[in-house]
Amino acid sequence: SGVEVVQRTGSTNTDLVALAAAGKAAEGTVLVAEEQNAGRGRLDRSWTAPARSGLFFSVLLRPAEVPIARWGWLPLLTGVAVATGLARAAGVNTALKWPNDLLVTVGDEERKAGGILAERAGEDAVVIGIGLNVTLREDELPVPTAASLALAGARTTDRDTLLRAVLRSLEDWYGRWRAAGGDPAASGLQDTYAAGCATLGRLVRAELPGDRSITGEAVAIDGDGRLVLATEEGVQEPVGAGDIVHLR
Ligand code: BTN
Repeated sequence: SGVEVVQRTGSTNTDLVALAAAGKAAEGTVLVAEEQNAGRGRLDRSWTAPARSGLFFSVLLRPAEVPIARWGWLPLLTGVAVATGLARAAGVNTALKWPNDLLVTVGDEERKAGGILAERAGEDAVVIGIGLNVTLREDELPVPTAASLALAGARTTDRDTLLRAVLRSLEDWYGRWRAAGGDPAASGLQDTYAAGCATLGRLVRAELPGDRSITGEAVAIDGDGRLVLATEEGVQEPVGAGDIVHLR
């Protein structure tokens, strides 16, 4: 599997989806950009970061032996893999805000240092995009609620070292999950995800597509990777997509 580095592009996700559609990218292809000027995030947001201030890359996966119904676990799997890789390489503790925002602790605040955007590339492939703020100082952050690995006390901010560590743990987790036919319980993914999830146990508001929202305690991650909320009315509501606000 090859790692390709480009100096500057709009979005590595857009590029890799196009390469995959043109039959020009094999499973495991990694596309890294030193600079991205039209980076995209979940829910139609943008991802902005100064050149070389972080890791901006995409990975092409074709989990042929895993039923499509289980592909929804890929972004959560990636979150677990990134968290594992960063802990090993940089000694930074990260937590996952459901589904896959990467949170670090700066002072006594939990702040976002990274995000993941998974997109289908045709019938048989998925492009996973990962954005990580690495060296940014306070005054360079795109928004005040963001953070970087440096601000979280990373023992290295060498982007090559971090990329290698993240790719290695992504390969591990992806291999384990595929070998289990995508089963989140048998692969250990569901439990590992839950253990690293900052959202579980919190009171949250889920802002759903179409202007609806649900408030409740986040009590579980179900077999489909959905966040289960226990509402005040005593109902358990699985949330499959949307934006989560941690209320306390
Ligand atoms: C999010 O937090 O909503 C997800 C952010 C994902 C950003 C990465 S940077 C590399 C890849 N290319 C993109 O355009 N987006 C992802």
